[in-house]
Amino acid sequence: MIVLGLETSCDETAAAVLDGGRKVLASVVASQDDIHGPYGGVVPELASRRHLEVVVPVLRRALDTAGTRLGDLDGIAVTQGPGLVGSLLVGCSVAKALAYVGRTPLVGVNHLEGHIYACFLTEPSPAYPFLALVVSGGHTALYLAPERGRYGRIGATRDDAAGEAFDKVAKLLGLGYPGGPIIERVARSGDPAAIKFPTAQMTDGAPDFSFSGIKTAVSLHVKRRAPLSETDVADVAASFQATVVKMLVRKTVRAARQLGVKRLVLTGGVAANTALRTALQAECGERGWEPFIPSRALCTDNAAMIAAAGHDRLQAGQRTPLTMNAIPDLALA
Ligand code: KG4
Ligand code: ZN
Repeated sequence: MIVLGLETSCDETAAAVLDGGRKVLASVVASQDDIHGPYGGVVPELASRRHLEVVVPVLRRALDTAGTRLGDLDGIAVTQGPGLVGSLLVGCSVAKALAYVGRTPLVGVNHLEGHIYACFLTEPSPAYPFLALVVSGGHTALYLAPERGRYGRIGATRDDAAGEAFDKVAKLLGLGYPGGPIIERVARSGDPAAIKFPTAQMTDGAPDFSFSGIKTAVSLHVKRRAPLSETDVADVAASFQATVVKMLVRKTVRAARQLGVKRLVLTGGVAANTALRTALQAECGERGWEPFIPSRALCTDNAAMIAAAGHDRLQAGQRTPLTMNAIPDLALA
């Protein structure tokens, strides 16, 4: 089954062609960092306008690279939500038009299921059940996947997503956008033990996350110590990163232990972070658990993961009618 995937939920315009839901024939991702950079965050209006401009060239490039024509497609998978409504609409409209013209089966995919499916595009891929930490710019949540296509939400952030915290802290430090990769780079020359930032504890013991406290702590620290030297900035970046990693890993391990699950999936844009990848791998190693962490390119937004998730849904006979619409707050569980 040859499936086209389209992803336009936020600030990446992406198209991919997969064979059999696992073999990536082409995966094209057009980043919009250049237009959002000056604002230190995604500007929804600019994002949807850029999607409109580049979606057809991106789609063409994916089809050309895969050596596939529209008539060869057995299915089309598109991100239906969650995401920015104006951005989602571009992908959904293109997918619907292609499905209508080619009479091609269409399926709407949840972006978060897409992130989880990135782990099936890397060998070895996990058996069920597994616990997935999805950690991106818009979401930070733990999902238990007992079987294919079923997810239970175990915990989630009560305020900011982890990626959002990286982006905001980078902005506070005057480092630019997107914050995650820049903080990671700057942190390399800093001391992760230099500053003790608070780790959030849920008073009710829930496996939820919170990143607003550390964001405020960084903001206060930066104001108190201004002007910061290059070393100070590196120390703040390294200490912030280490604290966020500690919070994410600790909650994930605790939830896995309580659930009795020994397979952990780490995915989403923040999963590209080396400190996080290494820490989760180490925890799994100590306990004899199996970590499944997609390559960095598959962790950040892409359309291969959407095509993979869509492939399995199409194969199970699922179809989304052409009356479908973007759902900005689409839930996974
Ligand atoms: O999954 P993603 O590409 O888009 C969303 O669905 O949100 O995640 C983007 C987020 C951004 O907040 C970005 O700063 C963060 O992932 N990110 C990172 C790294 N690379 C991207 N955070 C920490 N370290 C990184 N290396
Ligand atoms: Zn994402």
